[in-house]
Amino acid sequence: MENIATNKIILTGDRPTGPLHLGHYFGSLKTRLALAQNLQPNDHLFIMLADVQALTDNFENPDKVRANILEVAADNLALGLTGPQITLFIQSEIPAIAELTVFFSNLVTINRLKRNPTVKTEIEQKKHLFGEYQESLTYGFLGYPISQAADILTFKANIIPVGEDQLPMIEQTREIAVRFNRIYQSQVFPSPQAQLSSAPRIIGLDGNAKMSKSLDNAIYLKDSPEQILAKIKVAKTDSGSTLEYDPTNRPEISNLVLLYALSQNIEPMEAVKKLTRMKYGEFKTVLATSISDHLAKFRQKRAELIANPEKIMSLLKAGSKQALLVANKTMDEVRMAMKIDY
Ligand code: TRP
Repeated sequence: MENIATNKIILTGDRPTGPLHLGHYFGSLKTRLALAQNLQPNDHLFIMLADVQALTDNFENPDKVRANILEVAADNLALGLTGPQITLFIQSEIPAIAELTVFFSNLVTINRLKRNPTVKTEIEQKKHLFGEYQESLTYGFLGYPISQAADILTFKANIIPVGEDQLPMIEQTREIAVRFNRIYQSQVFPSPQAQLSSAPRIIGLDGNAKMSKSLDNAIYLKDSPEQILAKIKVAKTDSGSTLEYDPTNRPEISNLVLLYALSQNIEPMEAVKKLTRMKYGEFKTVLATSISDHLAKFRQKRAELIANPEKIMSLLKAGSKQALLVANKTMDEVRMAMKIDY
């Protein structure tokens, strides 16, 4: 099998809908950083700012998506995700992705799209946009897994570091790759695998199952020490008085203990031992300081970067130019396989 790449082509994406928060950081950015630090000579890491995907449920808010391109780029850059083997780019700068989405859309049934559990949940959550009975559900939103498959396959990526909620997308991507290769008798596409982070999930400060910008329950990586303290102070706990790590029965306080442990690079049980007999109020101050110290260097670097938006944009333009070369090469192979290489 000559055509199987042994090098790692890693691709991942962020929707530019808000600055990155602690849920992103402990859930997926840390894996991304570890992968970036272990790249072998022929490996490559693509990080996509998925503005086209963000527009599928923000089509009425183009300003928001535009503004957050810089925010999310600054977050990635300040974490240290730069270098000759890392390409940070903007999805909409790569027309090949949109083109491949059109070709792939022949290979996916509407029923298959409706069964995607992640999209299903999102549609449920977005009644304000798609209606109580999905009467306003758009073709673009229902179909975004096809576009995500194109994000991945345009770059022939074989490793996709993501959170658990993205597994259905990677599965659909593999189905599409296999179907394309079979129908067009080609070996254009690899079979990408998800790489899950081992970090436990961070829940919202309000106890909601997910830390998320839209739920307003997140600590952003760029938050100042004062903002972090203010948010932790009002974070939900419980009526108990002892610190424990028992996520099933005491989710809120356990989440705060977990955040402490992660920011100290220790295990939650070790954190409990260290914090023993501390009152909630005192613990909250200690926790806020711990998070804030953990992010101190990042914060400084990010502030420097965001002060110079032109520089960020020129980095993104250069990254997109690089990505475009790779994408266009794949498209030549796709057109040949599909017999549309006129
Ligand atoms: N859907 C991902 C998210 O919501 C973002 C994303 C877009 C992505 N394109 C991708 C992730 C390609 C991995 C690969 O977080």
